[in-house]
Amino acid sequence: SSEQAPQGEGGEGESAGSSTDTITLGFSQVGAESGWRAANTKSIQDTLTAENGFDLKFSDAQQKQENQIQAIRSYIQQQVDVIAFSPVVETGWDAVLEEAKAAGIPVILTDRAVDSEDDTLYESFIGSDFVLEGQTAGEWAVEQYDGEGYKAVELQGTTGAAPMIDRQQGFADAIAGSDIEIIDSQTGNFTRTEGKQVMEGFLQKYDDIDLVFAHNDDMGLGAIEAIEAAGKVPGEDIKIITVDAVKDGMQALADGKINFIVECNPLLGPDLAEIAKKVIAGEEVQKRIVVEDQAFDQEAAKEALPDRQY
Ligand code: AHR
Repeated sequence: SSEQAPQGEGGEGESAGSSTDTITLGFSQVGAESGWRAANTKSIQDTLTAENGFDLKFSDAQQKQENQIQAIRSYIQQQVDVIAFSPVVETGWDAVLEEAKAAGIPVILTDRAVDSEDDTLYESFIGSDFVLEGQTAGEWAVEQYDGEGYKAVELQGTTGAAPMIDRQQGFADAIAGSDIEIIDSQTGNFTRTEGKQVMEGFLQKYDDIDLVFAHNDDMGLGAIEAIEAAGKVPGEDIKIITVDAVKDGMQALADGKINFIVECNPLLGPDLAEIAKKVIAGEEVQKRIVVEDQAFDQEAAKEALPDRQY
């Protein structure tokens, strides 16, 4: 009594609860380095559920590229229907992506880009425009502080990661021509602990820091701890600009300890589910899906906080 379904393995019709069209998706996550990452993982796990037609295989690479490559190879071996991942760094993916392609398994990138020349190695890349995020942060800094001769330090994300490369570039471009000067930059690996450590080092080395640009909220929150421990007032003696707008960051912004946050939306699960379904159905998908971000000053954070989802 059932008609042939146009795609899927079973083609057995669509009775409620039927799992014949379940999409097995292998997802290799960067790690659990930040509040942003926790929200991103939750969005993916909450969306790619059995009720929504997915069998999600999830692995955490602990910020190591070799772990991600291993996870992807294992998904290829298991012959999953789709592979998705958020690449820890930009370079070095061609070989494993070619293996997936040879096995006929479509790949979807979420959050971070790869620098492969061959864009047939993946179906779609869903994520924010990180250059624009850095630029928005830099433009606000110029608007607020140009003319004061500010000395800035930069807490960078994981070396070689797309958001680190792009936010640095966007910020540098935006402040070029102003009198804000970046006197030092170092990676804090997108974590609170390392952000604090790097900031402690900066505070020992320089006594004239006016501004911190942290590539994410967690490193900015670590910097706040270091600044307070050094007897200075974050948000006043030393201004702080970050990226992400997760709850803890927004709270610190509303409390006056951070001065400005550019959002990076982590809720990528729904777009990933939609694109995966389309790819499996053989439908055309957009190669690049840019996720829209907002930006918040202290007043805007106070207004937005009560309804914040993450
Ligand atoms: O790739 C997105 C970045 O990775 C987020 O800004 C940061 O918090 C996370 O670790």
